[in-house]
Amino acid sequence: MADTYILGIESSCDETAAAVVRSGEELISNVVYSQIATHHPYGGVVPELASREHLRAIVPVVRKALEDASKTYETIDAIAVTQGPGLAGSLLVGLSYAKALAFAVDKPLIAVNHLEGHIHAVLLEERQNGNTELQFPVLALVVSGGHTHLYLAERRNSAWTYRNIGHTRDDAAGEAFDKVAKLLELGYPGGPVIDFLAKHGDPDAVKFPFAQIKHRDRNPENRHSPDELRTDFSYSGIKTAVLRYVEVHVMAESIQRRREAIKSIAKLKPEDCLAHCDRQTLDLVASFQHAVVNDLVSKTVAAAVDHGVATLMVTGGVAANSELRETFENRAAEEALPVFFPSRKLSTDNAAMIAAAAYPRFLAGELAPADVSSDAGLRLG
Ligand code: KG4
Ligand code: ZN
Repeated sequence: MADTYILGIESSCDETAAAVVRSGEELISNVVYSQIATHHPYGGVVPELASREHLRAIVPVVRKALEDASKTYETIDAIAVTQGPGLAGSLLVGLSYAKALAFAVDKPLIAVNHLEGHIHAVLLEERQNGNTELQFPVLALVVSGGHTHLYLAERRNSAWTYRNIGHTRDDAAGEAFDKVAKLLELGYPGGPVIDFLAKHGDPDAVKFPFAQIKHRDRNPENRHSPDELRTDFSYSGIKTAVLRYVEVHVMAESIQRRREAIKSIAKLKPEDCLAHCDRQTLDLVASFQHAVVNDLVSKTVAAAVDHGVATLMVTGGVAANSELRETFENRAAEEALPVFFPSRKLSTDNAAMIAAAAYPRFLAGELAPADVSSDAGLRLG
């Protein structure tokens, strides 16, 4: 079959991204414009600012992705764009732009679910590494700033289907990293800095218990079989527990001192935070990460065993976490389960995963209708 070059466009949250991928198996170019500097002072993504930044960045980012791939609008075969889920205004910028571009250059348009994109980040890189023999069924944990979802994934011919068997009941795991970092004045986003600082603290210093939330689906229509169990997550409790710890241990002053010390640093690095963290803060951060990682890994591996899966995939921004990767590798090995992650570059939001997820849809002729619109609450499976 002839090579297919798909231009992917992603704008669901705070990254404006474009990429060119060949036939779902080779990353040709990958451009990500991160808005971290814009949102950093607010300790989280400000939706209005995100939309404005996407508007400014989208044209140069797409041009750069084409240029890096030595491609033009004429020599690509299709355009893929994130339809949802995500921030309504941010999604609208990418989708409207992709729609207009596809119309202007007369190329097919494929609408992609962002969560399916995260799963295809793993598949793209595995194919690129020559691993084409994936064992099914696959259990994929998509764990990011907006999601903590478990999907059973199957492939029939080249078409993929997904079934959700668990999700967070409140905050996503990445959201907990971001909120704890904000509370402790460690900057935004919280994941990378906590990942770095946790290596300098004692993970067993503070115990944060988690509940098991395994249950049968209350809605019989959602049940695949009468005995099927769902595995849910919950990360708002640990955020409150960290806040309580800070109050009980009177840490407000040390947090305030760090705030003052780092506020004038233009491009805050994890090393700068480390220089302004005492032992108590490092132990708290390490214990927080350890508890979240253990909860994510133990629930996911238990669900994999319950459902008799053959392969595990862990993807989304939090999949970049070093302790999470190591713990998954160890626990999955105990169950003789192969576990795959994207590279760190493709763990967080990017457009290569969108172009890769679009490829099977392109082959199946599943093109977006002319009146396609973005969907902030789009579900997968
Ligand atoms: O997938 P992503 O880029 O965007 C969403 O779809 O949400 O994920 C961003 C999330 C943020 O919450 C960020 O703090 C978290 O991923 N993250 C990490 C790490 N790198 C990014 N969390 C833990 N450890 C990391 N190394
Ligand atoms: Zn994402």
